[in-house]
Amino acid sequence: MSIHSEIKKVTTHTLQRMKANGEKISMITAYDYSFARIFDAAGIDVILVGDSASNVMAGHETTLPITLDQMIYHASSVMRGVNRAFVVVDLPFGSYQSNSKEALASAIRIMKETGAHGIKCEGGEEILESVHRILAAGIPVIGHLGLTPQSIYKFGTYTVRAREEAEAEKLKKDAKLLEEAGCSAIVLEKIPADLAKTVAESVQIPIIGIGAGRYCDGQVLVMHDLLGINTEFQPRFLRRYLKLHEEITGAVRQYITDVKSSDFPNEQEQY
Ligand code: KIV
Repeated sequence: MSIHSEIKKVTTHTLQRMKANGEKISMITAYDYSFARIFDAAGIDVILVGDSASNVMAGHETTLPITLDQMIYHASSVMRGVNRAFVVVDLPFGSYQSNSKEALASAIRIMKETGAHGIKCEGGEEILESVHRILAAGIPVIGHLGLTPQSIYKFGTYTVRAREEAEAEKLKKDAKLLEEAGCSAIVLEKIPADLAKTVAESVQIPIIGIGAGRYCDGQVLVMHDLLGINTEFQPRFLRRYLKLHEEITGAVRQYITDVKSSDFPNEQEQY
C-alpha cells in the first residue's frame, strides 16, 4: 500500500462538507516550496498561490504585472511541498479577461504545468462566460468579489468596498451567479461584515473572507502579513502572528557581527 493513500487530502467536497458542518476553513497564501511545506504540515486546509506574489515576492506596487508563466513557476514550486492541502492558483491579470477561450487556455496551462487543484479569478457577471467554460472543462473555480486588486485602477483606492447599496446588491447577485455556475467557493475581500454574513447565509458554497469579518465560512491571509514579514501594511483586518521582520533583522545582524569578529565559524563548525 502506498503511504500517499493514508493522507486524507482536502478536496472541493471537503470544503463543501466543512461549510455544511459549520467547520471553519483556514487558507493562507504561499509562493514557494519551503513555506508551502511548512503550512501543509501544520494542517492548513487551502493554500492560495495568490497573484499577491506580484507584491510580496516581486516588489511591484500592484498585482497587475505578474505573468501567467511567473504564476506557474510559483505554483509548481508550491505543489512540490504539499501533500494534503487544496491548492488554488490565481489567474493573473490579462490571462482571462479578453475572452472565455483565453481564460480556459490559461486555466488549463495552470492545471497541466503545476498540478494544482483549481484556479481563482476576480469578478462576477463580467467573467461568467469564462467561469462556465473553465468549470465545463472540469477545473474547480474559486470566485473573488469585493475588493478585487486587479481592478485597482478602476476603484482608485484599496478602501472597503460595497458600502453603498448598489454595489452591495451587485455583489450579492454576483455571488449567486458564481454559485449557480458551480464555483467551489468565493473569496470576499474587504467588505462590511454584515454583507459578508448575508452572502454566506444565502449560498451553499463556502465564503472565505479577508477583511470581511467573522461570519465567513473561512479566512484567508497573505503569509507575509500574517508572519510579520511586512511591516508597512497594517490594515484593521490583519492579525499578525509573528514579528518575522524583527526576528530576521536581529538574526542577520548577529550573523554579520559573528562573521566580522571571526566568531563564526568556530572550531566545531569547520572540517
Ligand atoms: O492574491 C492574493 O493573495 C489574494 C488574497 C488577498 C485573497 O487574492
